[in-house]
Amino acid sequence: MSEPGAKKRAVHCPGTPAVALPEETSPGAIGSGSVDELRSLTLAELKAVVGRLPESLRHIAEYHFGWKDERGRPVQGSPGKLVRPVLVLMCARAAGGQAEAAIPAAVAVELVHNFSLLHDDVMDGDATRRHRLTVWSAFGTGNAVLLGDALLALAFETVTALGRGSAGAFSDALLDMVQGQAKDLAFEVETSVTLSDGMTMAAGKTGALLRCACLLGALSAGADEARAVSFGEFGAHLGLAFQLTDDVLSIWGDPETTGKPVGNDLRTRKKTLPVLAALSSGTAAAERLALLYGRDPARPTGPDECGELAALIEQAGGRSWAEHSGQQAYAAAIAALERARPEAGAAVGLLALAEALVHRTS
Ligand code: IPE
Ligand code: IPE
Ligand code: MG
Ligand code: MG
Repeated sequence: MSEPGAKKRAVHCPGTPAVALPEETSPGAIGSGSVDELRSLTLAELKAVVGRLPESLRHIAEYHFGWKDERGRPVQGSPGKLVRPVLVLMCARAAGGQAEAAIPAAVAVELVHNFSLLHDDVMDGDATRRHRLTVWSAFGTGNAVLLGDALLALAFETVTALGRGSAGAFSDALLDMVQGQAKDLAFEVETSVTLSDGMTMAAGKTGALLRCACLLGALSAGADEARAVSFGEFGAHLGLAFQLTDDVLSIWGDPETTGKPVGNDLRTRKKTLPVLAALSSGTAAAERLALLYGRDPARPTGPDECGELAALIEQAGGRSWAEHSGQQAYAAAIAALERARPEAGAAVGLLALAEALVHRTS
């Protein structure tokens, strides 16, 4: 399935981060089917759908996606990595279909993802994302909540046209995501959260939508249920690997590269996966970490304390556990992809994308 000798190049479209991929994925109805091209296709349709919003919300959406600044002037900001729609389109091709047929599913999944980010930044109190102020910081919490609601409505409008199977999978994923997010919030104050609880939470808040992306891509290609489920499992494992990397970046990443704050998860006492792994390590560092983490999160945490927390997590093995578990989840994703019997050319692109997502720095 893999072609280790495949030549790599950096692909890039304006406002999106470059991801290293092999030069060609399989030939198909849409040009080379490169990640760059799949992102552009998604963005074109996303812009058309967002254009249907009422003016009051549309200009905030255009800011959120990086197309306009706060005052409505055109800019080339990042709309995000567009990981989920690219997965939809690549899985459609890998299941023997054409990317065009999967564009509505790709747009629906990206709309839900952005709905979740708008609300997530309110819940997490994060003031920056994609190298600019989050919508709640720039336009107020009410507008962030309403724009999230509007994007969710657009997503459902798009997905209901896909038929009952896809629409049902979509609502299931949304419910799993909401449950994961609810756990993420509840765990901030719960003291007896286990690593297994954390894995379930991450599978819900992030794995569910990546599972759905890959499943919908396969369904759009007419894959039978067993094959579509295997594509979904590929996405679910990849989602866990993706969240493990996200958790590591939220503690040790560079905000200049991620465009997101660093250390806020620690200040708000999030029980992210590296933290839970560290807390369960039985080390002296874990004991001190538990003491500091148990302190009132409303009390301001200075940069020194944040630095100490990060160092304790590392000493207790939380960082290396997360990196190792990311590799394991990646391997499980590849095994699921093999079970899905992907078309050879498209599989090369999926493998390269999966690897780039696990090793990403943004
Ligand atoms: C961030 O997702 C939220 C998580 C599930 C970790 P992305 O890292 O895909 O966000 P964008 O769309 O590229 O900004
Ligand atoms: C990821 O949330 C899951 C969703 C947004 C549904 P996080 O809070 O872990 O992600 P970032 O780090 O803010 O992007
Ligand atoms: Mg967050
Ligand atoms: Mg969150």
